[in-house]
Amino acid sequence: MTAGALIELQSVSKAYALGESPVAALDDISVCISAGEFTAIWGPSGSGKSTLLNLIGLIDSPSQGRVMINGQDTRTLDDGALTDIRYRTLGFVFQNYNLVPVLSALENVMLPLQIRGESGRLARQRAADLLDAVGLRALADSRPDKMSGGQRQRVAVARALVTRPAIVLADEPTANLDSHNSQMIIDLMRELNRSRGVTFVFSTHDPQLLDSVDRRLQMRDGRIINDHHHQPQQQKVPQPASATGA
Ligand SMILES: Nc1ncnc2c1ncn2[C@@H]1O[C@H](COP(=O)(O)OP(=O)(O)OP(=O)(O)O)[C@@H](O)[C@H]1O
Ligand SMILES: [Mg+2]
Repeated sequence: MTAGALIELQSVSKAYALGESPVAALDDISVCISAGEFTAIWGPSGSGKSTLLNLIGLIDSPSQGRVMINGQDTRTLDDGALTDIRYRTLGFVFQNYNLVPVLSALENVMLPLQIRGESGRLARQRAADLLDAVGLRALADSRPDKMSGGQRQRVAVARALVTRPAIVLADEPTANLDSHNSQMIIDLMRELNRSRGVTFVFSTHDPQLLDSVDRRLQMRDGRIINDHHHQPQQQKVPQPASATGA
């Protein structure tokens, strides 16, 4: 394995059986993502972005190749061990929020910890802290149908982080949001990436989101056709006049 890689895909292909002939959703992908990166996957519809995230998230398995998480070859793990990594190392954010409608914001954020068997007290405390971190303390007792899309997605980000995962995967997290709310979600993910060292990998069509990342993986026809390390605009430091020779 490559030293320092939190996520590593080695020659990964994914074919779906569709009628007579298989569809190649991913075609021989090799990529490493290090701890602390903020990476976007972009490319046209059908290029394989969601499939790639599902493989990294251990929701689906490759037809060929290896997915390594934290140096561990996930092919060698049984279902119990895979579920354990999914609960302990990975957090998920979806395009359509996927909140439980009958639960309050606080209860939604508590849920992953309760599924894991943590005490109600600890779950409540951590969920409240995270709702605070995403600026939604005042809406802790509200149900999702009383919230805006941006607020719902902030609850979903809090829920993804409540188990303190090393990696958060997000499939088009801003696709249903207007530009103001998209920016809030981007800024929030960025802040959590910087302050907590959480590694984010997300798919997007959103140029605003692409502008704020460290790294862009461009996909086409199931392949990564460009791996671009990018200095986000807000991080650019102006050069002093002496350094430019002026
Ligand atoms: N469950 C499935 N069964 C059969 N084919 C599938 C399945 N999931 C995805 N595919 C095919 O795999 C390819 C990649 O799909 P994928 O959903 O990963 O693309 P995407 O880049 O996420 O697209 P979008 O931007 O529209 O979300 C497409 O050709 C798609 O039709
Ligand atoms: Mg998709």
